[in-house]
Amino acid sequence: MASTAATFDFTKRLRQVSDRDVENLRENFLEPALAFDASALGNNRLFPWEMTWFYGEPIWHELSEDKQLLLNRLSFCQSYYSTAVAEAATNALNYAATVDGLIEGDTEVAMYMAREAVEETMHIQAFLVLIGKVLDHYGLTLDDLRAANVSLPMARRFVQGHSLVGWLRGDLNYYYFTRFALNVNQKTVERCTIAEPEMDPAVRAILRNHAIDEARHMQMSRGTGKVALERMKSATMRNLACFGFAHFAASIYIGRHGRDSALARRTRVRTLELCGVGRQDAERAYVAWRDRVHQMEDPPLVEAGRVYYLKQICSYIDELPGVGQRMKAYMRGVVEKAYHDAVVAMDRRGAKALEFAELKRTA
Ligand SMILES: [Fe+2]
Ligand SMILES: [Fe+2]
Repeated sequence: MASTAATFDFTKRLRQVSDRDVENLRENFLEPALAFDASALGNNRLFPWEMTWFYGEPIWHELSEDKQLLLNRLSFCQSYYSTAVAEAATNALNYAATVDGLIEGDTEVAMYMAREAVEETMHIQAFLVLIGKVLDHYGLTLDDLRAANVSLPMARRFVQGHSLVGWLRGDLNYYYFTRFALNVNQKTVERCTIAEPEMDPAVRAILRNHAIDEARHMQMSRGTGKVALERMKSATMRNLACFGFAHFAASIYIGRHGRDSALARRTRVRTLELCGVGRQDAERAYVAWRDRVHQMEDPPLVEAGRVYYLKQICSYIDELPGVGQRMKAYMRGVVEKAYHDAVVAMDRRGAKALEFAELKRTA
């Protein structure tokens, strides 16, 4: 147990920061969400304009300005409702990790994971308040949003899959090891949302606070991920875990993605339908968008976001302890294949990854 405590020592530092932040959770999240007035949105956006689904496509130009704004706001609602569900799924697994930690003597890690669950619960609550108000403003309901977002049940499978693997293995190391990819994805989209020039200031303030909490969660997942891999007992286990991680990371997308699943496709199509586009037109628009028929290259922000994600995942792979060079090359290859457009953008056009300055609390 002594070596375990030493290995996870960085958790103590993260919890000290969290101890300060936890006192202000209500003030940083729920109160501004409750004060948010969707009828005062005006022309303010809620999502990066260039990351709005179908941005720049022929169907986008057929939409009126009001409908473009609706699609931008629905992209926010779908993205953050998915985030809320994913954070609830993470809570289920983090609390299972808390149970394990308390039983096995990793008290520090256990209490940090429990603290993350407290933070995520407040995030979820604030997001639901915001999303509810935006939908209400348009005469839509959460049921309308959920009906369009057919990819949500993936979160249930995520919890079931990791619980099953955890039960079979006797630990949650595989969960710890793989969750970093979700953090990078969330960070990329959220930091672009905060940086959107015409972002609604009230929502921006809440998302800024979220990005600060999540930066700490990401440090935790990066640190624990590498420790968890080292703790796997055999090279075969580690290689299997690496194989799984590479395919998981390759399936996570920012913007349009060649490996979009059928569920992602239906979610995009049905969200476009909520903007008044007919099913067949929406299906056609989706295929043309995904297959880069009209826009070979992504808008600059999306391209930089995809390059950022790819670089972060590759640097995580490079840092993995106890993994051979051949496996690392395989892992990079899997992710680069799914993010081929980002590789091409870097090689041929010198595309740069997004750069993020460190965020500090202002409120
Ligand atoms: Fe969160
Ligand atoms: Fe988080």
